[in-house]
Amino acid sequence: MSGGDMSWLDSENIRPYIFMRKENLFAQPGSHTKCDWFKNQPLYRNPLHMDQKAFADQILNLESKAFQHSGMPMPRWVFYDCAIMPGFVCGFAQRTETLPKSYLEQVGIDPDLDWTPLSLFIIIPTVRRGEWVAHNLCTANSLTDKRDHLYALGFLTKAFGLWYGNVEILCGFAQWQSPSIRLHSHYGSFEILTAYTPIHSHARTLTYRTIINGAYWPTFFTKDGDELNARYAATDFSVDPRSEHSLISFQRRLERDEGPFFLNPHEIRTRPLDAPLKVYRLKG
Ligand SMILES: CC(C)(COP(=O)(O)OP(=O)(O)OC[C@H]1O[C@@H](n2cnc3c(N)ncnc32)[C@H](O)[C@@H]1OP(=O)(O)O)[C@@H](O)C(=O)NCCC(=O)NCCS
Repeated sequence: MSGGDMSWLDSENIRPYIFMRKENLFAQPGSHTKCDWFKNQPLYRNPLHMDQKAFADQILNLESKAFQHSGMPMPRWVFYDCAIMPGFVCGFAQRTETLPKSYLEQVGIDPDLDWTPLSLFIIIPTVRRGEWVAHNLCTANSLTDKRDHLYALGFLTKAFGLWYGNVEILCGFAQWQSPSIRLHSHYGSFEILTAYTPIHSHARTLTYRTIINGAYWPTFFTKDGDELNARYAATDFSVDPRSEHSLISFQRRLERDEGPFFLNPHEIRTRPLDAPLKVYRLKG
């Protein structure tokens, strides 16, 4: 890996956490995608144990603050019914006594917890074998002072969950112009399933599907995805994230089954968030 400072990943004060009911645990975690980034042993917490309520409270505290600007904090019952019972909840946690001051001020801590969650990723299995839905991703980087940010915390939180959970295909959602699409597009092919989604609370939501492919992951750091991107050819149209007309016209093409259509991770990463993006097809 190269890029920003990644040394936090091997710190003895930071570990991945697994917040998953015992019956759902994976028999052979980390066996689908080859990845040697996650050397620290995950902490395990069983959400069906009453004593883990404080850890759950701290996850929800972080989540509600991270999503307060978008008006989409997760209700507590959704966390239980739609995440804990069917799915996989994970993230990174830090020894509470080592948290920076800006975490204490912007997020707040429970001093009784030895380990405090820094990030959250939730995936839920779908009825299609091997296919999951990404339901939530957030990190403390969106709340703490810039000098306290852990570089790529969001990207690595999601990578950890996909790796540990042996995810083969992932669907997910994001609002056009959200910085999150800069990381969502780096785990494999980034196919667009909906470009305009009026059934969602935010119609300007895109739905994506990714066939998970470990070859894409390092390109988040190296920013060198030319070989992978060469598999795609640009179509004769672009999508303008600022224009409802453009999103609806793209959506109509999808509904007419003119796809599959893909976006290019390098373009998403390097162009302004509101810039038009070329739409691609797989080369025949
Ligand atoms: C979106 C979110 C998960 C990103 O996590 P993060 O820990 O900040 O991001 P990472 O450090 O892993 O990734 C950094 C990359 O993402 C992009 N990025 C992250 N935040 C950004 C921002 N505010 N503006 C522009 N780009 C941003 C950058 O491209 C950056 O990489 P680069 O600096 O090398 O180009 C986090 O900001 C968050 O929790 N936001 C609030 C909740 C939310 O919107 N979740 C997404 C739901 S789909």
